[in-house]
Amino acid sequence: MPIDAVPPPTRALSGIQPTGRFHWGNYFGAIRQYIELQPGDRQAADEAYYFIADLHALTTVRDPAVLRGFVRDAAIDLVALGLDPERAVLFVQSDVPEVTELTWLLMTVTPMGLLERCHAYKDKKTRGLPADAGLFTYPVLMAADILAYDATVVPVGEDQVQHIEVCRDLAGTFNHLYGEVFTLPRPRLVEGGAKVPGTDGQKMSKSYHNTLDVFEEPATLKKQIMRITTDSRPLEEPKEPEGDHLFQLFSLVAPAAEQEVMAELYRRGGFGYGEVKKKLVEAAGQFFADARARRAALEADPARVDAMLEAGAERARRKAGEVLARARRACGLDRTAPPPAAVARRKG
Ligand code: ADP
Ligand code: TRP
Repeated sequence: MPIDAVPPPTRALSGIQPTGRFHWGNYFGAIRQYIELQPGDRQAADEAYYFIADLHALTTVRDPAVLRGFVRDAAIDLVALGLDPERAVLFVQSDVPEVTELTWLLMTVTPMGLLERCHAYKDKKTRGLPADAGLFTYPVLMAADILAYDATVVPVGEDQVQHIEVCRDLAGTFNHLYGEVFTLPRPRLVEGGAKVPGTDGQKMSKSYHNTLDVFEEPATLKKQIMRITTDSRPLEEPKEPEGDHLFQLFSLVAPAAEQEVMAELYRRGGFGYGEVKKKLVEAAGQFFADARARRAALEADPARVDAMLEAGAERARRKAGEVLARARRACGLDRTAPPPAAVARRKG
């Protein structure tokens, strides 16, 4: 690259399914990264697109009122946690119908075998559960989500990396057939690939019922924290903080100096886990205090939230419309367009 060449813009994109309230795993494992990548921050991308993946959630949430509630809560939660709709494009997936059309175009270049290997479908099948075509083709919709905005970097958890590989595969095949239409994205994993532990020490997940929700009522959160499982070693015994899930949870929300003090206490011994839990309740309250206040203000102003999502959808549709037009033209759906150079070349 010549010295004065301008590097291509980085465009971050990610989607999060509205399938329940966000827990600490979602925040520390995904949402915090989205916020860091929005333009204007230290590790920012040039542009950022974040959406609430309601079409994906349809494969699991079957109650319309519940789905509407989850989408609304997700929007409020994301903004309250620091996603700024002025700096990032925040929208609801189904507000951009261009993406579903693009899904079909990609479906025509998707080998069945590729989807059969994808874990969401495979896991269900091996457990003997019925799967629908929505779940089977889920990675194609996800590929369209990414390609529709020319995303270059997709911040996700480890569980989604396979889907980004599928996206790159499909984009590569389409480009090979029809010319350079799509930009190939790459995944961006959370630093260290940290897994947030749940209250029982396993990975925090809705399906394990071991979550601490970001916007939980303080009294309930306190009860949940007091119920975090611990070992039964005697008070006096020194303990190693590393690898202890209670200490890991504390480290997520406590300031660095308090983490040091706590680590010392662990190593010295002579304390009860109950004390650590009380400190965790306090630290969590402080860590999420500003977000809670922002959330309350947003919840009291539904028109503002609607306006944010509408403006986001408009910006997203503009970009997705450009990419879809490019794809339609390349594969021969746009009858007014001359054949793209790549096809013309191949014919001649
Ligand atoms: P759940 O397992 O509760 O259903 P999701 O699969 O909806 O959570 O999570 C959405 C995203 O949040 C994941 O892709 C991942 O990036 C992140 N995430 C969820 N749980 C954790 C966790 N325990 N640790 C780190 N990241 C997590
Ligand atoms: N499948 C993702 C999840 O369950 C959500 C998602 C949908 C997504 N479309 C996406 C993530 C596009 C990144 C890019 O977490």
